[in-house]
Amino acid sequence: MVPRRWLALFREARIKDLQRTAEPERAPDARKIAMSKISLKVNGRLHTVDVDRSTPLLFVLADELGLRGPKFGCGMAQCGACTVILRRQVVRSCVMPVSAVGQDEVTTLEGLGTPEKPHPIQQAFIEEGAAQCGFCLSGVILTANAVLDEKPNASDEEMRAALGGVMCRCFAHLRMLRAIRKYADARKT
Ligand code: FES
Ligand code: FES
Repeated sequence: MVPRRWLALFREARIKDLQRTAEPERAPDARKIAMSKISLKVNGRLHTVDVDRSTPLLFVLADELGLRGPKFGCGMAQCGACTVILRRQVVRSCVMPVSAVGQDEVTTLEGLGTPEKPHPIQQAFIEEGAAQCGFCLSGVILTANAVLDEKPNASDEEMRAALGGVMCRCFAHLRMLRAIRKYADARKT
C-alpha cells in the first residue's frame, strides 16, 4: 500500500483554505469536500481514482498509483521535477488539476522503459553516468525526448534552451547533454 502523504496534505490544505474563506458556520470539513471518481490513462493502463477534482495530478500519480518518476520539487511549476507528458507536450503535474487530464494518456518516466528494457534515451543516460541524485531525471529525460520527437535535428543550443526550465541541483548538466547528444545521434542512424 502506497502511503497517501501528498493527498492527505493537499486535503488538509484545501480544508484550511475553504475554512479561511467561507462563513464560519458554512465552513466545510473533510466530509463535505466533494470527491469524484476520475478515470485516468497512465503509461498504457486505465485507473479510476476517487479524489477532490482539484487535486494536482502529481499527488494522484504518486499516492494513488505509486509512481516515483515524477517528483515534488517546488510545487509551483518552477523546477520541472514533476514533469510528465500529456498530449505530446511536457506538463508540470504539480500544478495541473487531475480533472484537467480528460481522456488523454499521461506518460511518466516509468512509461518510457523498464529497468530490464530501458528506452534508448534512458540507456544513453546509464552509459554516460548522466545523473547524480536523479531527482531531476523525470524532467530532463521526458523534456529531451519530447524535443527530439518534435525536432530530431535539434541543436545543442535548442536542447539547452528547452532544458532551461528543468533544475538540476547536482550540476550534472554536462553529462546529461552528452547522453542526450548520444541518443539524438543514434536515432538518426
Ligand atoms: S514540482 Fe512541479 S515544477 Fe517543481
Ligand atoms: S541529478 Fe540531482 S538534481 Fe539532477
